[in-house]
Amino acid sequence: MANLVDRADAAEQAAILRLENEIVTDSPLYRSGATDPRVSPPWFAELSGNPPPRILSGNDPRLPKMPAKPTLIDYFTYRFGPSQHLLQSARLAKKNGCSEKIIFACLLHDISVIGMLVPDHGYWGAQLIEPYVDEEVSWAVRYHQALRFFPDAEAGYEYPQTYIDWFGPDYQIDDYIKRDYEYARNHKWYMSSRQITVNDLYAFDPDVVVTIDEFVDLIGRHFRQPKEGLGFDNSPSAHMWRTIIRPTKFL
Ligand SMILES: [Fe+2]
Ligand SMILES: [Fe+2]
Repeated sequence: MANLVDRADAAEQAAILRLENEIVTDSPLYRSGATDPRVSPPWFAELSGNPPPRILSGNDPRLPKMPAKPTLIDYFTYRFGPSQHLLQSARLAKKNGCSEKIIFACLLHDISVIGMLVPDHGYWGAQLIEPYVDEEVSWAVRYHQALRFFPDAEAGYEYPQTYIDWFGPDYQIDDYIKRDYEYARNHKWYMSSRQITVNDLYAFDPDVVVTIDEFVDLIGRHFRQPKEGLGFDNSPSAHMWRTIIRPTKFL
């Protein structure tokens, strides 16, 4: 009968994911919270094994294959989560007579939520798209995160009921959000970012289905698609796009 140590080792072994006989590693951020981030992941001890293991360091076979020179639309197609919130927000902005630039900003405003990271999504999203869009667009995406906590009756923006439901009526807004709101409120592009919050759909219609096809031309006019493929162009955020393509790549 296996002793306790053997059983613990077996459990650890079973917790290590292997695909095509390669160990699949994961990032601390995937685990943090679900497990104690200070504890090494099960696969860590395997690295010093004898013989040394093979480790997945390319495409994850569980994910759809990306084209060699991916476009923004390829990311929507192969990597991003459901994008109805973005598509419906962009359509609403169009219906409300917003400029193309604002419609485009609405289309990308939560890109980090559907493609990368949820906390501080405005900041991450802005950084991700910054090298490829008009400065005003990424600025608006960055600051919509702070503005959505502050009503502006004149602009037609009330504090969303869903935020009261989700965060509770006593929710304390972080100091850095207050600071960035103050900064944005007095900025020449304030209304661009405010327009994102006005057209942000807090309760979207499950019966309406908008497809990205509606915005292909708009993306063509407002997103500077790199000829090398998005992620392989050596821009300041190219590595972030590559990480979205291969989220389990080892090092
Ligand atoms: Fe947002
Ligand atoms: Fe949103």
